[in-house]
Amino acid sequence: MASSPDYSPDIRFMAFQSYLTAPHLFGQLNGLNYSFAGKTVADIGTGLGILAYLLKDKNALKIVGIDINKSFLKAARHLIKDKNTGFINANGFKIPVKDCIFDIVFARYVFQHINLSGDFISEIKRVLKPGGLLAVIDIEDDLNISYPDLPESTKNLFRIYSEYQKEQGGDRFISKKIPAFLSSAGFEDIELNPCTAVFFKGKDDGLNSAALKNAFLLVQNELGLVKKNLLDDKFIGPAEFHKGLNDYFKFLNMENNLFISKTEFIITCKKN
Ligand SMILES: C[S@@+](CC[C@H](N)C(=O)[O-])C[C@H]1O[C@@H](n2cnc3c(N)ncnc32)[C@H](O)[C@@H]1O
Repeated sequence: MASSPDYSPDIRFMAFQSYLTAPHLFGQLNGLNYSFAGKTVADIGTGLGILAYLLKDKNALKIVGIDINKSFLKAARHLIKDKNTGFINANGFKIPVKDCIFDIVFARYVFQHINLSGDFISEIKRVLKPGGLLAVIDIEDDLNISYPDLPESTKNLFRIYSEYQKEQGGDRFISKKIPAFLSSAGFEDIELNPCTAVFFKGKDDGLNSAALKNAFLLVQNELGLVKKNLLDDKFIGPAEFHKGLNDYFKFLNMENNLFISKTEFIITCKKN
């Protein structure tokens, strides 16, 4: 029997996130109305290469996934075997390629971790061809809403997670800041496309919807990855952590007539 790699929790989380968001991402890529045929594409912060995977039948000349994390790329290479797709283990701040070689550069869910850095954006500009397109996809937690409102303990847990991410140099309220940043960096033709996932659970439906179960499992997994750090660094106590998560589960399971909406943005712009 072929041996399968022993994937770590962060790879398993990323795989789950990629699997759940792939249909959405596929729609966003098609919505770009961009002809990838013959183009050279970069995906900075590629993770497991979900974007490269979804583009593999679009006749791109070359797709290059770049990531700072070696183990993600090892998994990506295992998952995506395509002659036009390659992966480079590098920091997005210093990409080991010549100037002006990519027609289009993607950065999906990366700015939320590294924030808005001039050095990062100058590096993207350097590797883009003149007239090349940058497509940033990222979150905006200010636009995550529900009715009824989340339990206080869950709001508290999410707020603490957000503070933790900020302390690590990230920002979960990043999308609304990106257009001004790109404009200041000299990019042109900035276009913003909000992508909203909405969900309504009617009366007495219980947690029988895959969408809600998956939403809970994803959050549980994501928080599980940082739980030790949150507790060790005294961001939150164990009881508060578990109450926030359990109350979220109960909220999704018990609440009748539940409305949930989550918005992210795809922001495109051109290098002049
Ligand atoms: C939330 S994941 C998103 C992965 C992928 N883009 C996706 O949509 O599934 C963020 C990725 O950015 C990578 N990353 C963070 N900082 C980076 C940097 N400075 N240079 C390259 N990759 C980076 C991480 O290793 C991780 O794979």
